[in-house]
Amino acid sequence: MKVGIFCPIGNNGWLISKNAPQYKPTFELNKEIVQRAEHYGFDFALSMIKLRGFGGETEFWDYNLETFTLMAGLAAVTSKIKIYATAATLVMPPAIVARMASTIDSISNGRFGLNVVTGWQKPEYSQMGMWPGEEYFGKRYQYLSEYVQILRQLFETGQSDFKGEFFNMDDCQVKPMPQADMKIICAGQSDDGLAFSAKYADYNFVFGKGLNTPTAYAPINDRLKAQTDKTGRDVSTYVLFMVIADETDEKAQAKWQSYNEGADMEAIAWLQDQGSKDKTSGSDTNIRHMASSVSPVNINMGTLMGSYEKVASMLDAIAEIKGTDGILLTFDDFIQGVEDFGTRIQPLMKSRIDVDSPIASQVSKSVA
Ligand SMILES: Cc1cc2nc3c(=O)[nH]c(=O)nc-3n(C[C@H](O)[C@H](O)[C@H](O)COP(=O)(O)O)c2cc1C
Repeated sequence: MKVGIFCPIGNNGWLISKNAPQYKPTFELNKEIVQRAEHYGFDFALSMIKLRGFGGETEFWDYNLETFTLMAGLAAVTSKIKIYATAATLVMPPAIVARMASTIDSISNGRFGLNVVTGWQKPEYSQMGMWPGEEYFGKRYQYLSEYVQILRQLFETGQSDFKGEFFNMDDCQVKPMPQADMKIICAGQSDDGLAFSAKYADYNFVFGKGLNTPTAYAPINDRLKAQTDKTGRDVSTYVLFMVIADETDEKAQAKWQSYNEGADMEAIAWLQDQGSKDKTSGSDTNIRHMASSVSPVNINMGTLMGSYEKVASMLDAIAEIKGTDGILLTFDDFIQGVEDFGTRIQPLMKSRIDVDSPIASQVSKSVA
């Protein structure tokens, strides 16, 4: 099973809590995290694009770096790990994104790929006068379909004459083309989003669900399979989880409890309000679920909490789910979290026994 790190490109990572580690996003922080991740054999690093934060006492996500420029910097200071940036497709023309992608492909020597998102939070775009109107919610994936067809043409041939409802290319040229096969990922959870991924993406990212219920997300793999049965393409699932681990279950539980006690309710209320704005997409859109929060303190992210042994066995359980090829991890404390994953969790995972990392090789030698 592949493992990736979701870079803390926004302040305080993914915990909306006064009791969580408080930090601003910097290049140095992300460099430290991604270099450590590479050292321990992580397969990829991904950063999101977020253009407007949630406010509140913790000013949650009011501070965010820009994903392409951050990942270009990280590409230059790493050598093995794959690097993904996220295209805010609503405000970035595909020919510009294709050119940036080719540039980072060159910096990374073929290790770069793209996450494409439709955008779901109106203020990110309306604040700069670039929100197309409420009907966009319902047309998001039609727009993204045209967008990705143009990207694929530019990556594969260096040229596009695509004409559609949203785009009108006129002998558009982008060279150099990337040296490596440019992987495109999406994180669709709705039927429209999954149908999009089945048709155009290489991997689909999904939200893990619940607290210590590692396989609760599995039904979405069946929904994706129903879509790939129609397109005949091979598109696997990568699932997002937050890991909160310590020496014992009790110690990890105490941290989780403290984060919940310090929840920044003002920022959470803003998120929930935003989540309720989309009245046009199908009721299956995941964003709606933000409004009915189960674990709002970490944006309803699936959480794996407990001793290193317990977390390792939950991660192995995820690896058993048919259709899942990888996990994307966040941590409450990223530097310590990557370190603990590399030295305490990964060596216990059957699904990572073949990983080229200092600790894993020690373990496999002693097993032999
Ligand atoms: C791993 C992951 C990364 C995401 N990154 C972003 C992002 O950078 N920007 C964004 O607006 N939405 C992001 N999203 C939200 C998705 O693009 C998508 O809108 C959401 O999962 C709901 O699915 P739906 O659009 O099919 O309803 C991300 C979701 C996941 C699971």
